[in-house]
Amino acid sequence: MVNKITVVGAGNVGATTAQRLAEKELARQVVMVDVVDGVPQGKGLDQWESAPIEGFDTRVIGTNGYDETSESDIVVVTAGIARKPGMSRDDLLNTNAGIVKQVSENIRRSSPNAIIVMVSNPLDAMSYVAMKVTGFPRERVLGMAGVLDTARYRSFIAEALDVSVGDIQAMVLGGHGDTMVPLISYTSVSGIPITQLLDRKTLDAIVDRARNGGAEIVKYLKTGSAYYAPSSAAVQMCEAIVKDKKRILPCAAWLTGEYGMSDIFLGVPCKLGRGGLEKIIEVELTSKERVDLGKSADAVRELINIVKL
Ligand code: NAI
Ligand code: 2OP
Repeated sequence: MVNKITVVGAGNVGATTAQRLAEKELARQVVMVDVVDGVPQGKGLDQWESAPIEGFDTRVIGTNGYDETSESDIVVVTAGIARKPGMSRDDLLNTNAGIVKQVSENIRRSSPNAIIVMVSNPLDAMSYVAMKVTGFPRERVLGMAGVLDTARYRSFIAEALDVSVGDIQAMVLGGHGDTMVPLISYTSVSGIPITQLLDRKTLDAIVDRARNGGAEIVKYLKTGSAYYAPSSAAVQMCEAIVKDKKRILPCAAWLTGEYGMSDIFLGVPCKLGRGGLEKIIEVELTSKERVDLGKSADAVRELINIVKL
């Protein structure tokens, strides 16, 4: 357990993340920050009142300022606007860049040693904004997307095969957008290559559904985007850090030559531990996967160039 985890943004993803962090007792205190007066306070109190029933001692509070967040060990950033039907993640760019800049300045001032787990979209560009504005080293700025995209992909495979989700090993790399790259060559079921269990047509349909997993939920919800699986994914990253688990998870990380790329946030296999990003693992890719990863990087670079700092 660490002392304090702050969640910025007490909306759907933020509030669900705070609740999951508390239920897992990953910190002594979870602080939710939002600009809307009363909402973080009310949700924080409501969650804290569930503690005697759920059996956790993590104190959850909500606030509109950053004093209570000071010296956080981890800050999960979920502040910003979410997608509505017909909007892509990229449509959120300018509004969320302004919000993430302001949030990052506050993090730099109040928690200069924190590890940031970025969630706000467009994810890879927002991770870039946070790293530039805080000046934190790349080890302490990670983006959450690959864990979510991989979870969607794994759940669809488990469904198709009628097997446990726990037996599906997979990895989705690249940017958090339509160009993401599910790696079929690294997908297995208890070690059995997926190509021995599912035909190509079924696999392609699953890959396509995973790529559009966010839009599928937006279409159902109409007023916002997914938050149960996204909050689970952010908390899994926090847990790997808090417990120094050295887990290998696909996260958006700042590349300095890995996969032949530099100066870009992109989803790659990362080792997460108490230091945050402890290593980027470079895996062999097929020539198609390498081309697809390059295309995904081009799409991310376009956004980073618009918000260039
Ligand atoms: P939401 O609209 O429910 O919550 C956003 C919250 O941010 C609101 O409560 C709002 O008041 C708050 N906020 C706005 N400006 C703020 C500021 N300057 N400081 C603090 N709080 C501020 O949205 P939801 O569903 O929670 O999504 C949040 C973000 O996460 C969106 O950008 C969404 O696209 C993104 N997202 C990313 C995912 C990923 O895989 N990386 C998955 C799901 C959502
Ligand atoms: C998602 O993938 C909207 O990025 C969000 O659900």
